Amino acid sequence: MRKVMSIAHRGYSAAAPENTLAAYRMSLEYEPDFVECDVRRTKDQQMIICHDAAVDRTTNGSGRVADMTLAELRELDAGSWFGPQFAGERLPTLEEFLDLCKGKTRPLIELKEQGLEDDVVAMVQARSLSEETMICSFHYSVGLRLPELDQRIWFSPLRSLHHPAEEDEAVRLADEAASVNGNVFGVNYPDITPALVKATHAANMLMEAWTIDAEDDMRKWVDMGADVVASNDIVLLHRVLAEMGVRRNG
Ligand code: G3P
Ligand code: CA
Repeated sequence: MRKVMSIAHRGYSAAAPENTLAAYRMSLEYEPDFVECDVRRTKDQQMIICHDAAVDRTTNGSGRVADMTLAELRELDAGSWFGPQFAGERLPTLEEFLDLCKGKTRPLIELKEQGLEDDVVAMVQARSLSEETMICSFHYSVGLRLPELDQRIWFSPLRSLHHPAEEDEAVRLADEAASVNGNVFGVNYPDITPALVKATHAANMLMEAWTIDAEDDMRKWVDMGADVVASNDIVLLHRVLAEMGVRRNG
């Protein structure tokens, strides 16, 4: 029987400030198949979780992550912008994220920069999380390096086209994703077409649709054949998957 995997995108980010421990903890209450985070490197070469290159949108600070030390970044309030009840939330480290996921869900780690994979894999291995972890990135070089580091960790190449992928382009994109050792091809959902789903499956990958927050769109892309769906609203996604009879844990 067909089942669709769920991703809590940046945690339960519809209900809590994205990419904070609060958002991850809230998502875990609903047992998503994966919880996603976005990783960057600090000025002092540490791994911190922050979606944007700058901290301005999601904290009370300003400036680029790459220009700040871990200690400076950890001073920032990453919760108040979302609501006063989240005051004091910090930008999490990758270690905190992995420790929270262990035994509860599969970590999905997006590498926002090139050259992070060696350090990230070492942290995953230190916690014996290789079998559960998926790394995703728009940087396809990650997929070429990953088998040298750890063949158990899944790789998800990401794509955003800004137009639907039809016929020859669909085949070319899927083949390109498979050629960098992709296990799950993660594509911006409006770009996904039946042709892309077919080409992705023909290349022995699963099709992931990100990031869907509207019920009608969830139904449309699950019907189209998505195997994995990412949403900021994990509660809505699970309700829809359950109603469609494709929820894994429902
Ligand atoms: O899972 C892919 C998705 O997270 C990529 O887009 O901008 O939300 O990191 P973004
Ligand atoms: Ca992401």
